Amino acid sequence: MKLGFIGTGKITSSVVTGICKSKIKYTKIILSERNKKISKQLKKSFKKIYIAKNNQDIVNDCNWIFLAVTPTVANQIIHKLKFKKSQVIVSFISTMNLQNIKKAVKVKANISRVIPLPPISLKKGPIPIFPPNSKVKNFFKHLGTVVEIKNEKLSKNFWSTSGMMAPFYELLRTMSEWLNAKGIQKDQAQRYITSLFLALSEDAVVNSNRDLKILVKDSQTPKGLNEQGVNELKKAGFYKATNKTLNSILKRLNKV
Ligand SMILES: NC(=O)c1ccc[n+]([C@@H]2O[C@H](COP(=O)([O-])OP(=O)(O)OC[C@H]3O[C@@H](n4cnc5c(N)ncnc54)[C@H](OP(=O)(O)O)[C@@H]3O)[C@@H](O)[C@H]2O)c1
Repeated sequence: MKLGFIGTGKITSSVVTGICKSKIKYTKIILSERNKKISKQLKKSFKKIYIAKNNQDIVNDCNWIFLAVTPTVANQIIHKLKFKKSQVIVSFISTMNLQNIKKAVKVKANISRVIPLPPISLKKGPIPIFPPNSKVKNFFKHLGTVVEIKNEKLSKNFWSTSGMMAPFYELLRTMSEWLNAKGIQKDQAQRYITSLFLALSEDAVVNSNRDLKILVKDSQTPKGLNEQGVNELKKAGFYKATNKTLNSILKRLNKV
């Protein structure tokens, strides 16, 4: 299996790192030269990685092609590439729908949309796939938890929640900086906050078959600190703003 990546940015870096640390069997991975720093770094870190100067060379030489450029770049370059019917094409582009990808690819290849997230480099996290595709599922099952979605409209709800990664990290940053401002050393503050949220997330995963309301309730003592925390944030509109933001990300996704 020869894997080719059009666009070597943040998400390609995470996916390639995950693949190279996994049991996936591949003969080579060809990366586009851009971004130069990331492609060089990946080639240095792992075996069987090659860098191509030209996107068409990647398409010519690989049987799996991953589209990992921004939507603006995708609209400029994908339709100029000559794909083959026999190829598996996996698009990571979050705001280009299947019909538009098919139009740009032109040939009737095996095309799917996948939304990997950066923790795929650790072989962790959900990996939504649309439409269900056994080849693509069998590949990505080595890199995280595959979620197959039958309908593109439904899949956009998952894409919306993936827009909450940066807000999550911003919350960790805000809390770490708050501790730091209170006199706790930055590295200690960051270690404390990240391990706190790791433990909370692991506990949430273990309990994910129960209603999450139970975790919210069980983590509060009557008149305790967590009760104060959640009530004050509710009053301040924090959770309403979360819903509003998810809706507005979804609205944007529904336009494409
Ligand atoms: N980041 C995520 O967590 C994530 C998750 C799921 C899906 N996605 C999707 O994945 C796609 C890429 O996201 P990203 O975060 O990886 O973006 P990114 O870091 O900006 O990477 C895009 C890469 O494309 C390269 N590029 C630009 N023009 C090119 C061309 N003509 N040929 C080949 N490569 C070219 C850029 O190189 P230069 O740096 O040299 O300009 C850049 O390295 C987006 O459509 C995004 O929606 C991202």
